[in-house]
Amino acid sequence: MIAGVDAAEASALPGVVAVLTAADLPIVAAGKGRLYEPLAREEVVYAGQPVALVVAETEAQAEDAAGLVDVQLQPLEPVVDVEAAARPGAPRARVIEAEVAEGSDIADAHAAVAAAGLEGEELSDNVLGTARLANGDVDAALAASHTVVRGRFETPWMYQGYLETQTATAWLEPGGELVVRSSTQAPFSTRDSLAKLFGLPTGQVRVRSAPLGGAFGGKMLIIEPLACSAVMALKRPVRLALTRSEDIAATNPAGAEVLTLELGADADGRLTAIRARVLVDRGSTDDFGVESIAAMLAAGPYNWPAYELTALGVATNRVTFGAYRAPTAAPAAFAVESLVDDLARRLDVDPIELRLRNVAGEGDVAPSGQTFPVFGARACLERVRDHPLWARRDAVGPHEGIGVAIGWWPGGYEPAAAVCRLDADGRLTVITGAADMTGVETGFAAIAAEAFGVDVSRVRVVNADTSSAPYAGTSGGSKVTYTVGRAVERAAVEARERLLEVAADELEISPLDLEIVNGSVQPVGVPAKALPIDELAPKILSFGSRHMPVEGHGRSAQAPAPQAAAHVSHVRVDPETGGVTLLAHVVAQDVGRALNPALVEGQMQGGTAQGLGWALLEELAHDDHGQLTTGTFVDYAMPTADGTPPIDAQIVEVPAPEGPYGAKGVGEAPIVGVPGAVANAIAAATGGVRLTRLPMTPERVWRAVSHGRDGAPA
Ligand code: MOS
Repeated sequence: MIAGVDAAEASALPGVVAVLTAADLPIVAAGKGRLYEPLAREEVVYAGQPVALVVAETEAQAEDAAGLVDVQLQPLEPVVDVEAAARPGAPRARVIEAEVAEGSDIADAHAAVAAAGLEGEELSDNVLGTARLANGDVDAALAASHTVVRGRFETPWMYQGYLETQTATAWLEPGGELVVRSSTQAPFSTRDSLAKLFGLPTGQVRVRSAPLGGAFGGKMLIIEPLACSAVMALKRPVRLALTRSEDIAATNPAGAEVLTLELGADADGRLTAIRARVLVDRGSTDDFGVESIAAMLAAGPYNWPAYELTALGVATNRVTFGAYRAPTAAPAAFAVESLVDDLARRLDVDPIELRLRNVAGEGDVAPSGQTFPVFGARACLERVRDHPLWARRDAVGPHEGIGVAIGWWPGGYEPAAAVCRLDADGRLTVITGAADMTGVETGFAAIAAEAFGVDVSRVRVVNADTSSAPYAGTSGGSKVTYTVGRAVERAAVEARERLLEVAADELEISPLDLEIVNGSVQPVGVPAKALPIDELAPKILSFGSRHMPVEGHGRSAQAPAPQAAAHVSHVRVDPETGGVTLLAHVVAQDVGRALNPALVEGQMQGGTAQGLGWALLEELAHDDHGQLTTGTFVDYAMPTADGTPPIDAQIVEVPAPEGPYGAKGVGEAPIVGVPGAVANAIAAATGGVRLTRLPMTPERVWRAVSHGRDGAPA
């Protein structure tokens, strides 16, 4: 509990404009979640939570003053064990309930959670959300199975580790418009949320996302409420840039999970039933519910005659849970792929063959109730099965092993629009509202060039702010190329039609008889009559022109296009130290169609490398009091270029029917299966020793190899 904040000394420092606490922020909306409490109110709910905001003329002055703010705290019992926190009677992670406006989305969502409940199970008030997907008689199906395997798996809190920390610069225009330039993946929802937070009309808030070197789900509505609260309180421009330590301690990494699974198969290697229970540590603020997706993903990309999948989101005194590259998918695949591998070993069936016998395809129904559309999981498994690395699996050196795993991601979707405009210099400008993250704009340029019929060097892409951009939604869920790209394609097709109409008029010929070749419009097959676009464009866009401007507006609204990636990992395990050396790694991913193969491969490499961090290195560890013990890059070990062997990225193309030229999302799928593939390679190298905790550090591997357990509770 916060007993008091003494800012007198800090305020007296030269250059200090203000020291703000929660009570000073001009927030008018009530609700649960971090958005509504950018600064802690009565209670600090995690170590690292911002309590006061110091605004000063310079960054150095602000930093000096922040060190002088005296926060008096009365300790409460920390809630850090997610399993204990879920049990009835557990101490509460949050003593003072946040206010929720009645009739709000959040209030409705909580009512729905309470109503859904979990039959016959008593849970503590720390349980923020539950999901259960069930079909068939799981007990009977397991009892009738030839082989049943069980396991309990733990995955840690994980920091996204993007290149640049979170930043926002915001100011008020003379008319009262709040303008925000920030490292956001979600300009439109940031605008909407800020408007609600400060009671402004939506049109009074303008957000533009800065180009992002990476975000992975973490850059949404953490920094803007802080910076904009200060702007609204002080009526001055404010820039806030987190230090790396602040970013690690106080943003929204992925939550820890405990997954308990039981699955069965018949003698032919057909999967019979799965029971899964997933506890997700949601941290201290009730923001991002992932129970439904966690429950569904626990089943892997397989057909199950009977299933019972339960997920619980549990509050603890840890930092806020956020999205991280395919949220909850990597832990799910680590658990289910480890056990599927155990089944294959017990049944003496080839692990890829067992997966191929059970993998879902188009027309199969997922546990969510949704029918799979075109789905490339089988094609990915076949690609790694036919790869030379897999063929070598029985001819490896001592203490070496080769393992396989597959991961999938259902794929996000959201309506989107884009504009394509011909400028007076004969070049195309594509305008979208999608944050330019890891190069998506080069994909837009390729799509527009292809659809319009010009060279890609003649297309430039502009990211406009929320006041002028066509709607693009959030850059997340691996959906930007798929949804916004489709809108870009349609915008370019429409712009092309408009240009052909103008040329038809000039040439007195039907537009149907025209083509665009080498930057010119010409009657089909008659280059002698070609009109260069460079000459046509300034003619159209001039005072006194009788032609309408050449512009197209494209829109899209699509069904999801699920993605999959299969991995084969080759490791050597040092039995003396437990150290795992990665010798080779293959990822085969269905990308629909690779519009820019270099970028697609980059996503596959990057996702795999990030997955190797999950597998072997990274953990946001907290002590028993909830204090972060790995709060810098010295303690928080991320993969490095010299520690990562070449990754063989195999592009598989199973076109998405609704994607631009068949393209689908590529960002999230490649991380999912990595920890499972490495775990299965370790098992192959050690005669079946099963690692159950991520990361699989030397100590844990050594314990598992020499004592049969990696230190996890039974
Ligand atoms: Mo993502 S983890 O949907 O940015």
